[in-house]
Amino acid sequence: MLTFKASKEIRAYLKSRSKSIGLVPTMGALHSGHLSLVKKACEENDYVVISIYVNPTQFNHKIDLESYPSTPDGDMILLDSFSDQIIFYTPDHKDLYPGKIKSKSYNFGSITTHMEGQFRPGHFNGVATVVEALFKNIKPKNAYFGEKDFQQLQMIKNLNAQKKLNITIVGCPIVREKDGLAMSSRNSLLNQEQRKAAPIIYATLQTLNEKYLKCDVSEMSVFFKKQVEQHCLKVEYFFVASINDLIPVSKLEFKKKYRFFVAVFAGKTRLIDTIELNRK
Ligand code: PAJ
Repeated sequence: MLTFKASKEIRAYLKSRSKSIGLVPTMGALHSGHLSLVKKACEENDYVVISIYVNPTQFNHKIDLESYPSTPDGDMILLDSFSDQIIFYTPDHKDLYPGKIKSKSYNFGSITTHMEGQFRPGHFNGVATVVEALFKNIKPKNAYFGEKDFQQLQMIKNLNAQKKLNITIVGCPIVREKDGLAMSSRNSLLNQEQRKAAPIIYATLQTLNEKYLKCDVSEMSVFFKKQVEQHCLKVEYFFVASINDLIPVSKLEFKKKYRFFVAVFAGKTRLIDTIELNRK
């Protein structure tokens, strides 16, 4: 497997081959959720660039950045046998931030105003800055992102349109553990008790979907909090938002499509999840 630290070298390597390039941006500590994106990218492109870069500007707490898991050897082993189409891109700061390590400022309207945008101020400007730099450095035909971070996925589609980058943004479904917990690099930070409790998040969203969709959103929110907080977890937010503009609602309208968006703390570890409301 080829590894590059400088995008200039990747571009030079790929230029002579003029093949289609898929990009999978990640922050490493890879798991099967990331691999599902890589697998799809390998099916749809000649070469797949996987970037691993823990982007400082998208973390709004220093301690969160410092405790973010890093497993470089494991990541290499996981991908080494995967496919010979894969190119590993492990940039240093300078390759993505030629000047100061600083976010640019963007306007994505309602897409980034609520949920993660509200509770992690500056987060999406940081994500957009690094993703725009990755797009410009690698110039992929297709780029792959998970629905696990649904708001991020919608923001990146908007970034691509705003900047006229002409990249096909491919959204991929959430990969879960057998007990329903959405896979996340942060899951490795959970202690035994927190790990045991965490599947209640998805289980409660499913229960809401099966039994409580006729209720008001405020009643759903109370139910979610009551179920989840029986365990060693603390709900940061529970929203139902329309999937087009990502604006939270208090009442469901006929025919519109919505998703649940939740963030829950297990000690200091923050877990997010989202599923579509299943209205028949
Ligand atoms: P990271 O959290 O490493 O995730 C990289 C990609 O994997 C994202 O598109 C994310 O949505 C996807 N992903 C994570 N867990 C998943 C799961 N359980 N199922 C499916 N896809 C999953 O998201 C980021 O990094 C960063 O914000 C990044 C886009 C790399 C910019 O720094």
